[in-house]
Amino acid sequence: MNILTTQSDMRAAMAALRAGANLTVGLVPTMGALHEGHASLVRRSVKENDVTVVSVFVNPTQFNDPTDLKNYPRTLEADCRLLEELGADYVFAPTPEDIYPEPDTRVFSFPPIDTVMEGPRRPGHFNGVCQIVSKLFDIVAPDRAYFGEKDFQQIAVIRAMVRHLRLSLEIVSCPIVREPSGLALSSRNTLLSPDEKATAVNISKTLFAAQDFAKAHTVAETHDYVVSTLNAIEGLEVEYFEIVDGTTLQSVRSWDDAPYVVGCITVYCGAKPIRLIDNICFKK
Ligand code: PAF
Repeated sequence: MNILTTQSDMRAAMAALRAGANLTVGLVPTMGALHEGHASLVRRSVKENDVTVVSVFVNPTQFNDPTDLKNYPRTLEADCRLLEELGADYVFAPTPEDIYPEPDTRVFSFPPIDTVMEGPRRPGHFNGVCQIVSKLFDIVAPDRAYFGEKDFQQIAVIRAMVRHLRLSLEIVSCPIVREPSGLALSSRNTLLSPDEKATAVNISKTLFAAQDFAKAHTVAETHDYVVSTLNAIEGLEVEYFEIVDGTTLQSVRSWDDAPYVVGCITVYCGAKPIRLIDNICFKK
């Protein structure tokens, strides 16, 4: 496995690899602190492509809270050990200075997909995600890129960007990986104390219960059930729970409003507090 730290080295490696060879390249963009969720993306890429590149870069432009950026876990050595075991071919771990030698002034905006849920609550977040992901696509030129469905809205925004820029790669979305308790895997889980983690399990537990509840209740009743159940638990505070059309991300009023319906949630957990996201499919 090769570990490269500059975009010029990464571009050169991809050019050499492609010279005269018709190889498919899979890219798994990450911010490191890798867990089984990332591992599932890497395994899938290794299976579906000749070459797998994993980027490990804590992208400053997608953080709207400097403390969040500072506290984001950074575990490059352990990440590389795991990626070697998983059969990744290249790790691309550049510095912010290498990726942004000058401020990235590009503005990405894909309303109404990025103006709901996370959009208004994390101003600039999706713009930053598009800035880095578009750069990674340009540097690696992958045939496929793999993203986890935990960040449900992120995938929709990236698909919109790919459409707008007319990029010819496939965006592969992969199912959420959960702990046996049901808690969706996230790099942020490492910031939870054992007690907070036990409390956080209620998020997925309530979402799974809501799937059953929804069979005999309206969208509004299901929404209220989830929010009131979670807010009644000490240490949890729902920021939003929205039941949306899984393609347009716009709220639905009735289960018949769309063929694909997903509930997306963000919850603050614990004293610090840690912001956790999750989602559940109601209809597909
Ligand atoms: O999902 C993430 O970890 C990040 O948003 C991504 C896609 C790697 C861009 O920094």
